[in-house]
Amino acid sequence: ADNAAQTRALPWWMAKREALLALAAGDTPRYVYDRDNVRLQAQSLRAFGAVDEWFYAIKANPHPAVLAELVQQGFGLECVSLPELTAVRAAQPDLPLQKILFTPNFAPREEYAAARAMGVRITLDNLHPLAFWGDIFAGGEIILRVDLGVGRGHHDKVKTGGAQSKFGLSLDELPEFRRLAAQHGVRVVGLHAHLGSGILDHGHWREVYAQLASLAEPFGTVELLNIGGGLGVPARADETPLDLAAFGATLAEIKAAYPQYRLWLEPGRYLVADAGVLLARVTQLKRKGDFHYVGIDAGMNSLLRPALYEAYHEIVNLTRLDKPADTLYQVVGPICESGDVLGNNRCLPQTFEGDVLLIAQTGAYGAVMGSRYNLREPAAEIVL
Ligand code: LLP
Repeated sequence: ADNAAQTRALPWWMAKREALLALAAGDTPRYVYDRDNVRLQAQSLRAFGAVDEWFYAIKANPHPAVLAELVQQGFGLECVSLPELTAVRAAQPDLPLQKILFTPNFAPREEYAAARAMGVRITLDNLHPLAFWGDIFAGGEIILRVDLGVGRGHHDKVKTGGAQSKFGLSLDELPEFRRLAAQHGVRVVGLHAHLGSGILDHGHWREVYAQLASLAEPFGTVELLNIGGGLGVPARADETPLDLAAFGATLAEIKAAYPQYRLWLEPGRYLVADAGVLLARVTQLKRKGDFHYVGIDAGMNSLLRPALYEAYHEIVNLTRLDKPADTLYQVVGPICESGDVLGNNRCLPQTFEGDVLLIAQTGAYGAVMGSRYNLREPAAEIVL
């Protein structure tokens, strides 16, 4: 792991420090996205020969410039709500409808009806839509999301498998699903599984593909297997990144074992996490007992992940990047919640009011999960 960490490329924002400081002088807090980084991440995945179609899970970051870059790189777009579908249609009116995937969970009837009218691909993950709204799907094609019984990911809150999880059709309901589909003349053309988010072991997708392939036969109509997203990016230096070469090779192997199916993947985080940073300004400093607090103008209303998942995001003092990091700080926001802590026990150079802190790897599930809690506007977004 040490070697892997040492050979990892320096983050893009090191080289763009001056530009970022100039941006921060205008207005903070602010998310800054590097479009070049999105392109590089996309290209690293497009090199996988075994994958027939890629979809970007736009929930990670639906910024129009991000969508534009990924569509340019050949990605389709995966949406989970009608507002996401509407945003995609507005931002990418020329994207073929077959490259738009609608994979909602517990959405109301009207959203499926609207998606069907639009003509995008639809994934169901429950009996209810076929049992009660069969008229919407009659004569059409759908993909079925199943629950393989186990969840994976960086935190319990992002695992999406097992009976305690609300996602996916239970395997014991497959025969009933087939019966309802036949009753309404619905063709089940694909099977889908997504077990969670932030997975660093590529063996996971091999397993999912094999499991879906083993379930496909009885349908007689399945042409594609969507093995989900969940591709992780290491947050800490001691985590090992996904081994892309091995990942590509293992997919090629499993694809060769079941050549009759098209292989789909739908990552979110992997494509955009590193491309985003959150810039915040130091507002106040405080010492209480052994704790040194540094307050910044970005809180859990701008970046919820640390409060919600205890997620780790590297934090640096961009103003004093060249000074030795010699002081332990609690990095906190201005929100009236004890959980409004963005970094625990972070080693930073001695820090002063007005310094700019950079919170790294916030391009995925950052801005889009922002809120107006305390009526503080979350950080605005800007693209380099
Ligand atoms: N496909 C499906 C069906 C999904 O539910 C998700 C994410 C993805 C693909 C993309 O997963 P990714 O490649 O980004 O891991 N807010 C959490 C992550 C929630 C993920 C929700 N579903 C976080 O900040 O870690």
